[in-house]
Amino acid sequence: MMKIVPLILLLAFATLHPFIRIGHRGAYDYEPENTLRSFEKAIELGVDMIELDVYQCASHELVVMHDDDVDRTTNGHGPVEAKTLAQLKLLDAGKGEKIPTLQEVFDLVNRKVKINIELKGPHTAQATADLIYLYVNSKGWRFDDFYVSSFDHQELMRFHAACPQVKIGGLYESSRKPFAKKNYKSFYAIGVAKNSLTQKYIDRAHKKGLKIFAYTVNDADEIKKMKAMGVDGIFSNYPDKFGA
Ligand code: G3P
Ligand code: CA
Repeated sequence: MMKIVPLILLLAFATLHPFIRIGHRGAYDYEPENTLRSFEKAIELGVDMIELDVYQCASHELVVMHDDDVDRTTNGHGPVEAKTLAQLKLLDAGKGEKIPTLQEVFDLVNRKVKINIELKGPHTAQATADLIYLYVNSKGWRFDDFYVSSFDHQELMRFHAACPQVKIGGLYESSRKPFAKKNYKSFYAIGVAKNSLTQKYIDRAHKKGLKIFAYTVNDADEIKKMKAMGVDGIFSNYPDKFGA
């Protein structure tokens, strides 16, 4: 009886505060980042949420790309925002994959897992809100299927103004800054580079009602250590290393 009670409490805590396994750019170390193939792999490996980055291209669609140019991840050259979708679709994003639109990712995911959209480029807030409304209002999705984040907190707050029903999170390269500005009061979570996370910082965030998502953690022991420190979610390039 003495052992059963703590176990029940632990299970109740885990149910109320589930740990979120996030596939960084899909399954970045197994498949070309930010491609449909990468997102499919992450889902197959059991993530709760996929993470991706968006820009708006010259013909105004939202496209899924990490960098502001296509040089590193495709066989093309030049800024993403200067190219139309038709031009971007001619490029090879690795293993013959095409650069996906955000809408193509929604259709692939089809509510199997949640989607973390990181607003990387300018002019992405309103277009992201519009697409989410389309999927919620006419395709049976829920606002809770999405989580939107950004290092650009102005763009993030523009998204929040356009679509307050979706949870948002500010991204930070260092854990020293987050509570300096008042924007964090609208945040559900903050995403912080793993190297700058401390126990004190995590506890402080939790006291303020904020979740902590750590990026990018690729080592199984490090994942275990961060979970023990109480982080609420982890971005990993290896979604099979999350463990139980
Ligand atoms: O959202 C966490 C992580 O994706 C932020 O860094 O450079 O991989 O977009 P980056
Ligand atoms: Ca990202």
